[in-house]
Amino acid sequence: EEVARTRLGGAKLIVVANREPYIHRYATDGAVEWIRPAGGLTTALDPVMQACGGVWVAHGSGDADRAVTDPSGRVGVPPDDPNYVLRRVWLTPEQEDGYYYGAANGMLWPLCHQVFARPAFDPGHWDAYRRVNQTFADAVLEEAQGGPALVFIQDYHFALLPRLLKAARPDLVTAQFWHIPWPGPEKFLVCPWARDILDGLLGNDLMGFHTQHDCNHFLECVDRALECRIDRERFAVQRGGQATTVKPFPISVDPALADEYLGDDWAARAGAIRRRHGLGDRPLIVGVDRVDYTKGIPERLRAVDRVLHRHPELRGGFHFVQVGAPSRSSIPAYRDLTAEVNGLAARINREHGTAGWQPVVFLNAHHGPEDIFALYRDAAGCVVSSLHDGMNLVAKEFVTARADDRGVLVLSTFTGAARELTDAVLANPFDVDELADGLHAALTMPAAEQERRMRRMRAQVDDHNIYRWAGMLLSEVGKRVPDSPPPPAE
Ligand code: F6P
Repeated sequence: EEVARTRLGGAKLIVVANREPYIHRYATDGAVEWIRPAGGLTTALDPVMQACGGVWVAHGSGDADRAVTDPSGRVGVPPDDPNYVLRRVWLTPEQEDGYYYGAANGMLWPLCHQVFARPAFDPGHWDAYRRVNQTFADAVLEEAQGGPALVFIQDYHFALLPRLLKAARPDLVTAQFWHIPWPGPEKFLVCPWARDILDGLLGNDLMGFHTQHDCNHFLECVDRALECRIDRERFAVQRGGQATTVKPFPISVDPALADEYLGDDWAARAGAIRRRHGLGDRPLIVGVDRVDYTKGIPERLRAVDRVLHRHPELRGGFHFVQVGAPSRSSIPAYRDLTAEVNGLAARINREHGTAGWQPVVFLNAHHGPEDIFALYRDAAGCVVSSLHDGMNLVAKEFVTARADDRGVLVLSTFTGAARELTDAVLANPFDVDELADGLHAALTMPAAEQERRMRRMRAQVDDHNIYRWAGMLLSEVGKRVPDSPPPPAE
């Protein structure tokens, strides 16, 4: 096996993320197949790892993962042309339940998103979270043996990991990127383990968020909860001999992937999807999300209903296609949401549909990127109506798919992306009339205006792409990487 040892400023790059970039699973005929998971994080980081090499440490979550992984937990990826190492960490169903479904997605997810969902504070889940962070620390320390390493930690699953790593190997350089929003202190400090979380994160040399607003919220929480010194000019926190820089790095996508996924046959793929779902040749408005209560899917369906009431001339004239990848379905709130979306879609179709036309098509299944990009390119518009979202990479992906400079992006003002894609049709998703106006604009905007807006958005994403994001973030901490190998850990 070829172990990637690419060094960054003399260090090995180790990415840690709960989600693995490639999942191996058994197909219905028993053969092993692999898929890319839904969600922005893996889509964004995989091209960076393909360019830099290194090791990605993640939870081995596929039912066929063990079948293709060596006894040390390592497998080369991408599966069809390996150029970096995926180190899989095995969790028991109980650990996954407490750490992933419980603490990460039942507590931190609603705590960090301003969507009026109540976080569950369960000491058993927190205990599992602490233990799993230690399990990941052990795996990272094993991968980092024998030389300097830069550990790049992803997201809210690993708030305790940096402190654990620094305690064992003070020479490791660690950076963490928080892919979701960070709330203000009134909200965050209700968490019984708020101090542990903040202290854990301040084990990092660098803490990155999408926006300055998130950084300010984080610094306010630290200021209220912990003994430390905050240098607001340098955006740094000093605590117990450790300095943590806190800075915004708006994440992005790889614009070149659009051409790769679209290929020469995107129109044929889009045609097949149209035929399969009886879409004729009507204009499509698409939504592409994990089925998650932060994404504002019921809100956009209500906006479809509203636009059909207010503009009867549009009846029979378009389809709204919602691709909804099933997500976190062991959590009741996620199951309830799926039922709500199904119910709303059925109600709207009953009320407005005819024998030959159904306004809403809900595709509640995992779709590969080739089909998603074909839909992006084929659509008249794309709606991103998140109630709160750190960035939202669907908005940026849609823009990269539109080399034809057509298509309208309707974008929630409560996404990180709205700060950069100011040529989108911006709307408050809590305001059904405003969102309905956005849909109407997507269906009626003159071509010249579409072109003007899309050109500027494409230039923005081309320029501020994922490589620039990774380059800025890693060079910020790269300067802290020691040149010579450190002394042994003991
Ligand atoms: O954006 C937050 C996030 O947790 C990302 O880490 C990931 O891309 C996405 O949501 C998908 O979530 P999960 O890994 O829980 O399916």
